[in-house]
Amino acid sequence: MTTASHTALALDFPILEQEGLVYLDSAATSQKPRVVLDALEDFLAHHNANVHRGVYPLAIDADTRFSAARAQIAAFVGAEPAETIITKNATEAINLVRYSWGPQNVGAGDAIVLTEAEHHSNIVPWQQLCEEVGAELRWLEVDDEGMISLGQLDEFLADGRVKMVAVTHCSNVLGTINPVEEVVARARAAGAASLIDGSQAVPHMAVNVDAIGADFYVWTGHKAYGPTGIGLLHGRRELLEAMPPFLTGGDMIKTVSFEATTFNELPFKFEAGTPPIAETVALGAAVDFISGLGIDRVRAHEEAITAYALSQLQAIPGLTVQGPPLAQQRGGLVSFTLDCAHPHDVAEILGRDQVCVRAGHHCTQPLMKKLGLGATTRASFAVHNSTDDVDALVGSLGNVIEIFGES
Ligand code: ALA
Repeated sequence: MTTASHTALALDFPILEQEGLVYLDSAATSQKPRVVLDALEDFLAHHNANVHRGVYPLAIDADTRFSAARAQIAAFVGAEPAETIITKNATEAINLVRYSWGPQNVGAGDAIVLTEAEHHSNIVPWQQLCEEVGAELRWLEVDDEGMISLGQLDEFLADGRVKMVAVTHCSNVLGTINPVEEVVARARAAGAASLIDGSQAVPHMAVNVDAIGADFYVWTGHKAYGPTGIGLLHGRRELLEAMPPFLTGGDMIKTVSFEATTFNELPFKFEAGTPPIAETVALGAAVDFISGLGIDRVRAHEEAITAYALSQLQAIPGLTVQGPPLAQQRGGLVSFTLDCAHPHDVAEILGRDQVCVRAGHHCTQPLMKKLGLGATTRASFAVHNSTDDVDALVGSLGNVIEIFGES
């Protein structure tokens, strides 16, 4: 990976062969390297059968590949395969915890702590649970630099009413990398469970679920160079074993009679119906791809591009960057506003130059309210990006300012 010019790695991504395409929206979904596309096609073309059902050789082959991919994915983040549950996406993983763990552990008068910077997927499930059982939400404030305060967390935890602390590892808007080990340790000391949303962290920085120690850690495949349709929930065995199933039906059972059902062992107890088999195999190839590059090199590369982007963007008159001032404090993304143009107009003009960014509230309406903004424009980086891509972004922003700056 080189930071200074178009990376050789871009060649691994077929979609980037499109002339002039500058993809700066990996926080919304990552592009897929050829090895992932090949793994998906190879499985479907040569190894496809349902899992946990057939006894013929093709089915056993599919079983073996599916379970090897789960083990690979779990190992990538330092988790146990049996504690690694495959869901449809990170949102479903959080909902699994909300519906299965929630009602048994959160009651009237209890509290759940969230940060103001959570994605809707880590707000709405908890808000609904609180409404259902008569609990309250407590919001950890983000300061002007996008940071949360551990002191405020301690204050929230002090009365012993908090049952869950659910925090994003890396904000999809501010980029802030939260001190999740500290958050988890404080929650545990106060008798609260913890859930970390790692959707924006796992493909970009070293994540060890065991070391972080959260009760639940969720992430998604499609932001980690894998396909859509697969999310992950890593949970602590004691909790998962005590929790009732979330969805029920095929595969999650041990026995079914006319009278009653007993449930399968972990992780299958939480995987009702046919799982995303080919997608799991392809995500195995995706984490292999990241491991092959080396996650520390990935982080260094993206941090360098983020530092360059911060310096270039902050030099543009009328442009305001949201979130922490230093690249070391952030994941590989930068959200900003321009005085002269609405974020959607900015994204549309950039799009004419094939510079792909996201504009909007980024599924974080409470955070937008806190920031006093309706929307931002966000550029987000991945392994295939280079400083050339940042230069293309800055050049295209010059066109935006030319169009809107005078009006
Ligand atoms: N949550 C994703 C984003 O931030 C979709 O763009």
